[in-house]
Amino acid sequence: MDGNPKLITAIRREIATAGGQITFARFMELALYHPQFGYYRNGAARIGRDGDFFTSVSVGPVFGRILAQQFRQWNAPVFEFGGRHGQLRQDVLAGAPELDYRVIEVGDAVPEQITGTVFSNELLDALPVHRLCGDQEIYVTGDFTETLGPLSDSRLPRLPASYRSEINLRALDWLTDIARRLTHGYVLTIDYGFERAEYFSPQHAAGHLQCYYRHTKSGNPYEHIGEQDITAHVDFTALIEHGRTIGLEPVLFTDQAHYLLKAGEAEIAEIVARDAGKLSRERNALHQLLHSTMGTAFRVLIQRKQ
Ligand SMILES: C[S@@+](CC[C@H](N)C(=O)[O-])C[C@H]1O[C@@H](n2cnc3c(N)ncnc32)[C@H](O)[C@@H]1O
Repeated sequence: MDGNPKLITAIRREIATAGGQITFARFMELALYHPQFGYYRNGAARIGRDGDFFTSVSVGPVFGRILAQQFRQWNAPVFEFGGRHGQLRQDVLAGAPELDYRVIEVGDAVPEQITGTVFSNELLDALPVHRLCGDQEIYVTGDFTETLGPLSDSRLPRLPASYRSEINLRALDWLTDIARRLTHGYVLTIDYGFERAEYFSPQHAAGHLQCYYRHTKSGNPYEHIGEQDITAHVDFTALIEHGRTIGLEPVLFTDQAHYLLKAGEAEIAEIVARDAGKLSRERNALHQLLHSTMGTAFRVLIQRKQ
C-alpha cells in the first residue's frame, strides 16, 4: 500500500470515525474525488502518452472533429460532463465553431435547466462503484484490506455465491439528475462496458475493476492511492432500463467503431483519400479509434427526452 500520504491519512481517519470500515464505493470516492487530495482533484490525473491512460480524446483531434458533425446535426447547445480542461471542446469547436459548448467538471454548478445535448466520454466508468461478493458488499478497513458486510443500499442486488462484481448506482443517480434537468434533447454517453448478460457472465466472475498507473493496468486499488485511476466497466443495460423509467428513450446503442464510421463518414473519407498510402498522424488516430480495442470496447448510447 502506497500513495499520497495526506490522502491515506484522511481516508484512515474517516474509516476510524465510521467504526473501522467504509464501503468500497466510499473508498473509491475518496481516492478519486477527495476535495484536496483525490486523484481527479489534486492535479495527479494525467491522460495521454505522458499520463496514466489514453482516452479517445487523447488520441487526437479527429474524435472531436467527428463528434462536431453529430452536434452540428442536432443544432443545440452541448453540455460536456467530465470534459476536464476542455481539450475535446477545443477539438469540437475547430470543426463546428458556431456551437455553444460548455464543459462541466466535478464541483461546477450544473444548470437547473438543460436544453440541448448532454455528452460524456469516460465519465461513468470513473464514478465510484459498489463492489459485491455474493449477497454481501465489500468494505475497506483501516489497513486497506477488504472485508465483507451487509449491502449498504436497498437497490443493490444479491449476486450468486462468491461471484464478484460492481454496481454503479452513481451512474443511475447521475442519469436521474440529468433527466430531471433536461427539458428536451439528447444524452450521448460513450464509455467502455457491456450489456448485462455479458457484464454478469461467468467469464467476468471477478468483476471489472481496473486501475491505471503510468499505462500499467492492475486490479489493486490500494496501491498508488490518489495517484492512480480506478475504473470499472459500465453496465449499459442498467442505463437503458433506468433511462426508460425517467423519460429517456434509447435511440441508438452500438460500438464506437460503428458509431464513428457513420457519424464521421465524410471526415473519414476525406482523411483516407488525402493521406492514402501515408502513415499520417490522423490516419493513425483513426486506426486507434476504430480498429484497436477502443473501437469495440467503447459503446455509444444515445437517449432522447422529448
Ligand atoms: C476518465 S476521466 C475522462 C476525461 C475526458 N472526458 C476524456 O475522455 O479524456 C473522467 C472525468 O470525469 C470527471 N467527473 C467525475 N464525476 C463528475 C461529475 N459528477 N460531473 C462532471 N465531471 C465528473 C472527472 O473529474 C474526470 O475529469
